[in-house]
Amino acid sequence: METPLKVYKGLEGIYVLDSSLSFIDTENGKLYYVGYDVEELVARSNYEEVAYLLLNHKLPTMSEFSAFLGKLRDEMRLGEEELEVVRFVSKRSGGMDALAAYFIMTQKDAVGEVSPMDSAVRAVGKAGSVLGNVIRVQRGDDTLNPDPSLGIAGNLVYLITSEKPQPYQVEFLDDILILHAEHGVPASTFGSVVTASTLSNVYSSIVTGIMTLKGPLHGGAAEAAYQQFLEIGDPDRVESWLERALSERRRIMGFGHRVYKIYDPRAKVVKAMAAKASEIAGGHVKNLYEIALRLEEAALAKLAPKGLFPNLDFWTPMVYTAVGIPPNYFTAVFAVSRIVGWVAHLLEYWKDNRLIRPLHNYVGPPVGQKYVPIEARH
Ligand SMILES: CC(C)(COP(=O)(O)OP(=O)(O)OC[C@H]1O[C@@H](n2cnc3c(N)ncnc32)[C@H](O)[C@@H]1OP(=O)(O)O)[C@@H](O)C(=O)NCCC(=O)NCCS
Repeated sequence: METPLKVYKGLEGIYVLDSSLSFIDTENGKLYYVGYDVEELVARSNYEEVAYLLLNHKLPTMSEFSAFLGKLRDEMRLGEEELEVVRFVSKRSGGMDALAAYFIMTQKDAVGEVSPMDSAVRAVGKAGSVLGNVIRVQRGDDTLNPDPSLGIAGNLVYLITSEKPQPYQVEFLDDILILHAEHGVPASTFGSVVTASTLSNVYSSIVTGIMTLKGPLHGGAAEAAYQQFLEIGDPDRVESWLERALSERRRIMGFGHRVYKIYDPRAKVVKAMAAKASEIAGGHVKNLYEIALRLEEAALAKLAPKGLFPNLDFWTPMVYTAVGIPPNYFTAVFAVSRIVGWVAHLLEYWKDNRLIRPLHNYVGPPVGQKYVPIEARH
């Protein structure tokens, strides 16, 4: 008898590529970008420098960084034609769809003449300026010219609030962008690399990444966690809510991870940020944070023995809210950050490209079915 084929559902435990970009130490709960501890990068670096690190596999010297910043700032600007595209793609609600549509509509300009690296830098520079304006247009405001001198995080806050950002807003958002920049090959990065492996272009790969990130099991978890905290409404209702949710076999949003069976190192950093955010913003953010704290404790008692711990999406809703990002755009901010991870992966993959083409195990009806004309079918 033939041995049945083994199908690796969800590709769990399967290595699909070599990469120098990040190392996830699942035993000690640490994450490194190109060898640098992400906690140290959050404390000492900024998103732009981390973007350089991921694209070039090294930290820049002063002159390399200022040249890179110059390019990035040029790309952060949006000309009238680009703003016109933003207005058009913003007609339907939703940041993710608008962001993806922007990259679809502008891809002709981004590829061809320019190198894949330039196209990658362009996408990293444009993303925040596009999203900030999408948010403006979708809430009924006019577009606003980006201010590249504020940096990617500061500019995004500026576009959303129309005001000069507060230092705490820039710091929070910059840290969040660093923490979301790269994480090996989750579904969105894998999807992005699959697209790249066909030798489709940088922008198409980004579009695949955005669309794959959108789901609630992946990037959409932060918004789902926010809605869950709202549904609970009051810290005193946490225990009864949890009991019911678990008895209904609902998933606790912001808990669990395919690779971390211990506390997600990013979640530790964001938890501390959420505490600060709750102090600074008070009110609604404080209430969300108190619900999250109590839910963490109650859920850990039930779920930790199964290897389920909070991931970063459990804590980001409080930080995003303090920064001024509306919940329906949380995932799109994640995308703005992760674009650099996607493009860094595809630039790396293209150095030794091979078309990705796995196999499937056929489990359908026996082959050789007789075709019956439609009129004769019952
Ligand atoms: C992230 C996630 C998709 C990883 O899932 P996975 O590795 O495929 O694990 P599975 O879906 O196979 O789940 C394994 C078991 O844990 C349970 N589980 C997983 N996540 C859970 C959660 N958040 N709450 C409650 N139970 C959970 C499953 O019900 C399953 O239990 P069972 O074996 O009794 O059926 C999953 O943990 C999840 O859905 N989390 C909530 C969404 C989220 O926060 N995503 C952000 C990830 S960064």
